[in-house]
Parts: sequence; C-alpha cells; structure tokens
Amino acid sequence: MASLRSATRLAAPARSLFRPAVRSYATIGGEMSRGATPSRPVISEKDTSTIKEPEPEKDSKIKTFHIYRWNPDEPASKPKMQTYTLDLNKTGPMMLDALIRIKNEVDPTLTFRRSCREGICGSCAMNIDGVNTLACLCRIPTETTKESRIYPLPHTYVVKDLVPDLTHFYKQYKSIKPYLQRDTKPGDGRENRQTPEERKKLDGLYECILCACCSTSCPSYWWNSEQYLGPAILLQSYRWLADSRDERKAERKEALENGMSLYRCHTILNCSRTCPKGLNPAKAIAEIKKSMALGS
Ligand code: SF4
Ligand code: SF4
Ligand code: FES
Repeated sequence: MASLRSATRLAAPARSLFRPAVRSYATIGGEMSRGATPSRPVISEKDTSTIKEPEPEKDSKIKTFHIYRWNPDEPASKPKMQTYTLDLNKTGPMMLDALIRIKNEVDPTLTFRRSCREGICGSCAMNIDGVNTLACLCRIPTETTKESRIYPLPHTYVVKDLVPDLTHFYKQYKSIKPYLQRDTKPGDGRENRQTPEERKKLDGLYECILCACCSTSCPSYWWNSEQYLGPAILLQSYRWLADSRDERKAERKEALENGMSLYRCHTILNCSRTCPKGLNPAKAIAEIKKSMALGS
C-alpha cells in the first residue's frame, strides 16, 4: 500500500513539477501496518560508516544513534541511515540535545528543524524509536546498550534529512478558516466575552501546537491525506466549533459534510496515543461527529 500511495502522490503534477527536491518518506520502501506504530522503512543504502564521539573520556557513556539522511542536492544518492556515537556525559538529556551536539561538534551537514526547545513551537517533531514525538521533550534513554533510531515524520515528503514538507498540512489548516468569524458586535462596544464555563470548553483544544505528530501517525491520513483532514486539523476545526463566540458553526459543519474530510476517521486512536502535548484529537473528532449527527 505504501508504494501505491506514494505513486499516486508523486503523480500529482504540482508536486512533481514544483517540488523536485522533496522525497516521499513512503517511497523508500518498507511496510506500514494498520493501527500500529509506523513500521520502519527499508533504507536502500547500508548503514556502513559510524561517525564517533570526537574525544571520548575515560568514564564515557557511549550511546549509538542511527539517523535518517537524504540530501536533495545529491539526487542520485538514496536515503540512508547514518550512525553516530555520543558520550552521554557530554550531551544534554533530550534527543534534541543529541541532535544539536551532533550538528555543532560532529557533523554540521545534519539537518533538522527546531526553535523553542521547550515543546511550544512544534518544529522538532520527528519519529524517535518508533514514536512520533517532539525531540525537545523526548529524553534520551540512558541505557547505552539500546541504540536509538531517528526518522522524519512518517509518510511525509522529506525536504532534507529530518525535515518534513508540511505544505499540504498547512494548506489544510488554512482551509478550515482557523480564526473567529462573527458579525455581531457586543452591545457595550467591549471585547467578545465568554463565561468561565464557555471558556472551559476550549481546554484540551487551544493547546495544540500543530506539530503534525498525530496526523502523521494516523493510517487513514497516510492513505487519504489529499482529502481527509486528519486529526490535527480536525481538532483545530472543533476548537472553533466549540467556541461560544463564533457565528459560523453551520458553515463550518457544512464544509465537513462529505465522505472524506471528517468521516475517514475510523477511531483507530493512534493520534491520541502519540500526541506529545497529551491532547485527545480522537475525542475532538468524536465530538464533531456527535454534533453533526444531533444537529446541535
Ligand atoms: S493534537 Fe497534539 S500531536 Fe496533534 S498537532 Fe496538536 S499538539 Fe501535535
Ligand atoms: S482516531 Fe481517527 S484520526 Fe485518530 S488515528 Fe484513528 S483514524 Fe486517525
Ligand atoms: S523545538 Fe519547539 S517544540 Fe521542540
């Protein structure tokens, strides 16, 4: 199925014409199992070389990291896994610390996104040891006999190394009009206020940082991402449906009233299991379905 989907997506002219340097993570092989954590793709080139900790000390705690590499400037080269070893005594506690140390001290060609370093910006989302998560919130397992494997978010086009292309994801976000839509002005000329109870309905929704960990763990999104909005965008959609101040609920729901945008969710729950912010996109989707069924 992986090859079917990637062939379909690669056939889209806009992608192949304007994004020649972006490689689909799904095109490099491997099988994806339904309802499970995405299985690892088979990397075409063997992981032969190891780039080692520059100056290991006597009591060093050497840990091995295998990291996905692909360089669009070398289109003839296939994706490969590169092995690095680091001394944990000289490395910060989080996976992002390991990546930053590799880039700063071992291999400056390694490419990844990061900004806030505290789970707020969502840019360091990647697949670490089989789980979609934020590298800055993911502790390095201190067990040195266990090797770590780091890949870009699954089923995304790869810009370079660990950087996924989220253009389509952001287009889908824009499509739900993620802002307050309201014509009525408050009579007293002040701000649009809410009661504490109304405000409470946004808890568990407004915290979403759009990291895409949930959507890229969702089998339905893997196979139908051109039309299915996926858990992250649907959670955002519900954030506006649940907002007492918004006056476009009917239009918002109408836009979801088709076979693909919403109803491709089959309640597999990978999304809620993987969210690094502890949110529950599957529940938000269920709330949308309920409100559409009840017309509430
Ligand atoms: S719901 Fe969670 S996993 Fe999904 S985009 Fe938002 S923060 Fe990321
Ligand atoms: S519950 Fe729905 S959105 Fe979440 S992983 Fe399953 S199919 Fe995808
Ligand atoms: S660097 Fe911002 S969420 Fe990780």
